[in-house]
Amino acid sequence: MRHLMSPLDFSVDELDRLLDLANDIETHPQKYAHSCEGKKLATCFYEPSTRTRLSFEAAMLNLGGSVLGFSSADSSSASKGESVSDTIRVISCYADICAMRHPKEGAPLVASQKSRIPVINAGDGGHEHPTQTLTDLLTIRSLKGSLSGLTVGLCGDLKFGRTVHSLINALIRYPDIRFVLISPEELRIPSYLREDVLKANHISFAEMERLEDAIPELDLLYMTRVQRERFFNEEDYIRLKDFYILTKEKLDLAKKDMLVLHPLPRVNEISVEVDDDPRAAYFRQAQYGVYVRMALILTLLEIHVA
Ligand code: NCD
Repeated sequence: MRHLMSPLDFSVDELDRLLDLANDIETHPQKYAHSCEGKKLATCFYEPSTRTRLSFEAAMLNLGGSVLGFSSADSSSASKGESVSDTIRVISCYADICAMRHPKEGAPLVASQKSRIPVINAGDGGHEHPTQTLTDLLTIRSLKGSLSGLTVGLCGDLKFGRTVHSLINALIRYPDIRFVLISPEELRIPSYLREDVLKANHISFAEMERLEDAIPELDLLYMTRVQRERFFNEEDYIRLKDFYILTKEKLDLAKKDMLVLHPLPRVNEISVEVDDDPRAAYFRQAQYGVYVRMALILTLLEIHVA
């Protein structure tokens, strides 16, 4: 039985197959419409979510399966003091697969160790968000044609943004990837990523503060929200929240085929006037999130559709 805690849990070949499957699902949805009949997905969300939870639910429903779960810690027995280990042992009796989001780093991993069903990390604190990364990889591969040879700008809250951490881990395995890390001094990537991931693997990267300086050379700009819920005090958040706003003027400095991605939710960091630009791909990205989660559910449940 396999779980998904980090994008690195899949080899590059396995990821290729998963993305191929997601593309096939996109083109032939009918072929998969009954593939999970009789199967149940539990969504255990101890932290707010719109896209991740609903796209998981839509994915399972599209496959002909059903869903159950909770969408906040308050409405689960966590509020009575139950541990994730106990909760997952019980969920294992009710469902065939579980997607779990938790504010504590490592909670889905702890759950997976006691689980009798595959557990998917749907975001653990400021740590990782592997299914967003699968979504990002599918979007990039589908719209750019390849996952190699790209100069990737990551902009915003690189310290607490778990989507960025997982995406860096995933992309370093493809040839000729270069990162431009754009953030205020206080929100730079954690040092373990800089030292143990980027430097240790000899990945080319630059750290910058001004988006205008970075944007002309990028093939891809991944914007992120300042992660308010991970700040120790509100004043720091208020000072940093509008540090970056991608406007039409800034986008004018970019390549004609640069992609703008964002895991969403957006707060202020992309001006709504950018939404109509053909380079803005964040709503298409959310759509890819359903196909890739369908592919993931089939893969972890070891269901093969001929
Ligand atoms: C992200 C998350 O939860 O980390 N959202 C998502 O799953 N699409 C990004 C964010 O909340 O900023």
